[in-house]
Amino acid sequence: MSDLSQLENETLAAIESAADEAALENVRVAALGKKGSISALLATLGKMSPEERKGEGARINALKDKVAEALGSRKAVLKEAALAARLAGEALDVTLPTRASALESGRIHPISQVMDELTAIFSDMGFSIAEGPDIESDDFNFTKLNFPPGHPAREMQDTFFFDAKADGTRKLLRTHTSPVQVRTMLKNPPPIRVICPGRVYRSDFDQTHTPMFHQVEGLVIDRQAHMGHLKWVLEEFLKAFFEVEHVKMRFRPSFFPFTEPSAEVDIQCSRKGGEMRFGEGDDWLEILGCGMVHPNVLRNCGVDPDEYQGFAWGIGIDRIAMLKYGMHDLRAFFEADARWLSHYGFRPLDLPTLAGGLSS
Ligand code: DAH
Repeated sequence: MSDLSQLENETLAAIESAADEAALENVRVAALGKKGSISALLATLGKMSPEERKGEGARINALKDKVAEALGSRKAVLKEAALAARLAGEALDVTLPTRASALESGRIHPISQVMDELTAIFSDMGFSIAEGPDIESDDFNFTKLNFPPGHPAREMQDTFFFDAKADGTRKLLRTHTSPVQVRTMLKNPPPIRVICPGRVYRSDFDQTHTPMFHQVEGLVIDRQAHMGHLKWVLEEFLKAFFEVEHVKMRFRPSFFPFTEPSAEVDIQCSRKGGEMRFGEGDDWLEILGCGMVHPNVLRNCGVDPDEYQGFAWGIGIDRIAMLKYGMHDLRAFFEADARWLSHYGFRPLDLPTLAGGLSS
């Protein structure tokens, strides 16, 4: 076999076996590139005699054309194959069901929802939000709120205490949100209108008690704030929260060290058919504690009781969430069971507003 036909066979075989366009390009460069085998042959033509050049030139050029043509058709085949592979890889079955986005499947916990609802209602009434730490001093949780040292009222709340420090003071996990009243009065001069939602802790555990739960405190301090205002605020709140036209409240005398007088508030309800309804019926349900802020508390917090007075209340958030949304076991709130949350939770973009509806 002549050198030329061997070169032709080898080159055509290489073209045929090039697996992709890059490999084919390598074959092209090796044959027809500047330093390619066929280009080298063409370069020899210049040194030949005119006679030789006639025969050899025609043969080498024919080989060049053949190789160029083989390269071209192989390239077309490879291009088509590459396109087919890409299309196969990107194939999309438009008949498949769509996958729910995180926004669709995520749920807002009922506690967060109720906190947002409270915030919407009280903001509309001109209240701001105040917060305090979960780890509180004995002084703010008890003493400044008029619990005398050693007084049995301290035992009313099953407190989680930290070990006492060298100076005898001890921190605790706040047992109620009332210390935020103290912090607010110490920081801001009256008039004051705040709500203080947050976590509180007591050593208690059964179907309606968990060691950590949530409260919202309300505090109004002004020159003439009185029980009539308290009653109006609570009534407006309860109507808005339970999304009913009317609520009937009953104030029962009670005792809290930080209020005088103190009251517990019941709302009228019906439990017909095992379903709780507000604004109707002849049952009563205890819902919150409240009262006029005790002059000692005002004094302890730098507010002159001869000039200012005010009222406060405390509500269990978990409890009103259970009442509004019909859960029976408080412990489930904190079990992080995704099935429970997808049943009782709220869609992330349905933010409660008074105009748009709280729970819709
Ligand atoms: N701090 C009380 C508790 O946890 C609730 C409470 C009652 C708060 C009366 C108040 C209030 O502000 O006036 O049991």
